[in-house]
Amino acid sequence: MVNIKKKLRGINGGSMFSQKLRNLDWKKFQALPTHKRKEYFAKDGRIFDVLFSQQFSRATLDLLYRIINKVRHIHKTKDGAKWLSSLLSTKKAMLYFTQPSTRTYLSFVTACQTLGIQTADVRSSQTSSEMKGETFEDTIQTFSSYFDVIIMRNPHEGHAEKASFVLNNTLRPIPIINAGSGKDQHPTQALLDIYTLQKSFSDVGGLDNKTIMMVGDLKRGRTVHSLSYLLTNYNKMKIILSSPEQFRMGTEITEFLKINNIELLETTEFKKFLPDADAVYMTRIQDEHDTNNESSSYDKKKYTIDQEALKDIKPTSFILHPLPRIFEIKREVDKDPRAIYWRQVRNGMWARVALLIYLFRLEEKIFDR
Ligand code: NCD
Repeated sequence: MVNIKKKLRGINGGSMFSQKLRNLDWKKFQALPTHKRKEYFAKDGRIFDVLFSQQFSRATLDLLYRIINKVRHIHKTKDGAKWLSSLLSTKKAMLYFTQPSTRTYLSFVTACQTLGIQTADVRSSQTSSEMKGETFEDTIQTFSSYFDVIIMRNPHEGHAEKASFVLNNTLRPIPIINAGSGKDQHPTQALLDIYTLQKSFSDVGGLDNKTIMMVGDLKRGRTVHSLSYLLTNYNKMKIILSSPEQFRMGTEITEFLKINNIELLETTEFKKFLPDADAVYMTRIQDEHDTNNESSSYDKKKYTIDQEALKDIKPTSFILHPLPRIFEIKREVDKDPRAIYWRQVRNGMWARVALLIYLFRLEEKIFDR
C-alpha cells in the first residue's frame, strides 16, 4: 500500500498541487483554467504530456529549435544517423489515429524510425475492442501496458487530454502526444510551423517583430489555433486573421492574443492585407465539420493564392500551409521561392524527432555529441 502511494506521488513530480488535482473527476478537472490544468501535465518542471500549445514557453520552444538543428546536423553523416537510431531503440510507441492523417502519421512513424523507436498503430476504433464496448479509459490503459508513449489523433476535442488525465491516475503513466484533437488543437503542427518560421527568418532577427497573416477557416482549423497560442511567446508580433465572417477565429483565442500583447487585426479582406504580411499561413475549409452545409457559402476564389495574388506578397515574405490543400494555393505557386509548405512537411519529421528527444530527456546527449 505504501509503495503504491509512493508511486502515485511520484507522478508529475508529486507537487501538492497535482495531488489535489488528482482527486478531481474529469468533468471538474476539465472546467479548471488552462494554467492550472497544464501543471497536471508537467513533471519536474518539464512538459510530460503534449496536449495544447499553452504548455510551451519561449525557453522550451528555443530548446526544441536547438535540438532540431543539432539532430539535422548529426543525421547528415552515416555514423550520426546510426547513432541516432540507437538512442531510443528500447522504446515503443503507440500511434492511435482514429481520424484521417497522412503527414502527421507518417512524420511520427519516420521520426520514431530515426530514433530507433518501434511503433504499432490502431487507425480506426472499428478495429479495436472499443467496438465490443470497452471504455476509452480501458483502451488507453491497455496501450500504456505495452508502450512507452502514445501518439494520438482523435475527432473529439479534449480526448488526448482525457487520456492523459486517465493515465496520470494509474501506476504506469506514459507521455501522450496530441497529434490533433477535433477542431481544438494540433500542437505538434504548431511546433513545426514555429520552427519553419524561425528558421526562415533567421537572417532577419527570427520570428520576433513579424506580421503573420492566417487565412481560411479559422473557426474550425486546429492548426491556426495552436499556432496562435505559440506566437504569443514572441515579442512585438502582429497577427492578421483573414476569413469569411462565418469562419472567424473563436473569441477565447482572440482574447488570449490581445491579453498577451499581440497586435490583432481581424478582417474578411484577403488581397488587401497580403502586402503587410511577413508570412502568409493558408488553410483549407474544414467542411468535414459541417452540420448544415455551412461551407457552401465559402468564397473559394477570394481566399486563394494564384499567380495574380503572388504579386501582392512581399518578395521577402513566406507562404505556409499545414496541408492538405484543396483549392487555396494553386500548384503553380509551388515553384515560387516564397512557398515553403513542402519544407514544412520535411521539418515536421525533425520537429517530432526533437519532441521525442525532449520527452525522453535526451537533449544533453544530443548536444554533447
Ligand atoms: C491539418 C490537420 O489535420 O489538422 N493537417 C495536418 O496535420 N498537417 C490541417 C487540415 O487538415 O486542414
